[in-house]
Amino acid sequence: MLKKILLFLLFALVVIQFIRPKKNKTEGPQPNYIGNAFAIPADVKSILAKACNDCHSNNTNYPWYSNFQPVLWWLDKHIKDGKKHLNYDDYTNRSLRYQFHKMEETIEMVKEGEMPLNSYTWIHKDAKLTPEERSKLTSWANSIMDTMKAKYPIDSLIRKN
Ligand code: HEC
Repeated sequence: MLKKILLFLLFALVVIQFIRPKKNKTEGPQPNYIGNAFAIPADVKSILAKACNDCHSNNTNYPWYSNFQPVLWWLDKHIKDGKKHLNYDDYTNRSLRYQFHKMEETIEMVKEGEMPLNSYTWIHKDAKLTPEERSKLTSWANSIMDTMKAKYPIDSLIRKN
């Protein structure tokens, strides 16, 4: 009986190798990339690249072990969920309120240490942000909010009740 169960599990493991979600890869320039509308200093760009973009952009750098299932499913879930909440490559086409608010959220998440996700920094050690990197990221997001406030009336950025 045990042997049958093990054989079945082995069989299932082989079968799921062939069921793969589509990878998060979009070649070429991203027309709605946040950097098209707002300046991103080089150091901030590299922080975003190493710590955020795998889940909040249209291009994920997949680790080698993502070739084994069910790892890819597990990663895919985080990527889909992350992109649904915030996608820096799908940004400038959103409403001003949305763009303003997501910068607020970026500051909050980074300050509270909620992002990047622990399950991510556990493997990507260099994505664990130093206090200096955190403050670079939050100052950048703040500067975008300031730029927006200078450019647009406040009612178009914040919903008043
Ligand atoms: C491993 C994937 C992953 C990485 C890496 C990651 N995030 Fe996230 N992020 C998520 C997921 C999943 C959610 C949605 C669920 C949640 O809030 O936990 C999210 C939510 C957010 C939100 C909240 C958006 C909203 O409106 O609710 C912000 C802001 C955010 N992330 C910013 C960042 C920043 C900035 C970084 C880099 C410093 C980062 N994330 C790195 C997966 C990730």
